Amino acid sequence: MDDLRAKYIEAIAAAGDEATIEEVRLAAVGKKGEISLKMRELGKMTPEERQVAGPALNALKDEINAALAAKKAALADAALDARLKAEWLDVTLPVRPQRQGSIHPISQVTEEVTAIFADMGFSVAEGPQIESDWYNFDALNIPGHHPARAEMDTFYTHRAEGDYRPPHVLRTHTSPVQIRHMEKHGAPCRIIAPGRVYRSDYDQTHTPMFHQIEGLAIDKDISMANLKWVLEQFAAAFFEVDEVEVRFRASHFPFTEPSAEIDFRCSWVDGQLKLGEGDDWLEAGGSGMVHPKVLENAGIDSTQWQGFAFGLGIDRLAMLKYGIPDLRAFFDADLRWLRHYGFSALDVPTLHGGLSR
Ligand code: DAH
Repeated sequence: MDDLRAKYIEAIAAAGDEATIEEVRLAAVGKKGEISLKMRELGKMTPEERQVAGPALNALKDEINAALAAKKAALADAALDARLKAEWLDVTLPVRPQRQGSIHPISQVTEEVTAIFADMGFSVAEGPQIESDWYNFDALNIPGHHPARAEMDTFYTHRAEGDYRPPHVLRTHTSPVQIRHMEKHGAPCRIIAPGRVYRSDYDQTHTPMFHQIEGLAIDKDISMANLKWVLEQFAAAFFEVDEVEVRFRASHFPFTEPSAEIDFRCSWVDGQLKLGEGDDWLEAGGSGMVHPKVLENAGIDSTQWQGFAFGLGIDRLAMLKYGIPDLRAFFDADLRWLRHYGFSALDVPTLHGGLSR
């Protein structure tokens, strides 16, 4: 019995592949294997002999089977290791520098603004760029005859002859996302909505497609004071200075009451913009308390809820922060421009890691 054990344990240890393992298995515990044949001989033994030999043979068979299984597993592991080694690929190698792309300033600034507002509890909402007349205008308290419609130089979609339904528009601002969000999620809410908007306009500071970021905060006790604080926090974080004073200038938007234009304190010295100091004011966008009609249009009870909204121009923020003089160049796809003003793809803007580095 001891010789049998030694012989097969050794053979198993020496086996280098699955086929050899199988040969050893057949020779030992296969139907005509040595151990199987020995077990058949148990019948010829006396009961006393059988009592000793039976359990011993069974134990040996179990031991051999276990050794076979262990060796098989070890061989499979080794095979996998060998394969992994053979197929190894270093994906950490840097790309060829001449092929490196860059992050467009618009994307960069959108990420920066999003990081700042996320830190104040605002989540990101989205809406379609081809928008219905209702969401782009009516729901925002801009009825058909309102001059704001003409001011916006709207692009309308084509309408088939005889179709008198209002045409869809390329959204002229991100404000319709306010309605869509409130309609779907109700109050309270705190969102920003960055995205593309369209107006038929073209000069050094206007392109037919540009970018805005909308803000909306609705709750039971939100006031203009909260709006001012949020904008101050935003401006200081975005321009990476300690403090920026915000000034409200009375204005009018159909979707807010009262409405205010947002100005940031700044100085312009030798064409250099500095935020948070000086006697100049930088126009940053529009804002106000959401008009009760707008809340009602979005299915929110205006006797229970109130809040502020604001709209900022992303392209303008990018031009100011990064000293880019002409808006049109943003969309020319000139590689030299992109390389000059672009950002590294791996430097994701965060408040703790630094927005622009
Ligand atoms: N939608 C306005 C525009 O595009 C900007 C704006 C003004 C948005 C005031 C607002 C707001 O949310 O409260 O000119």
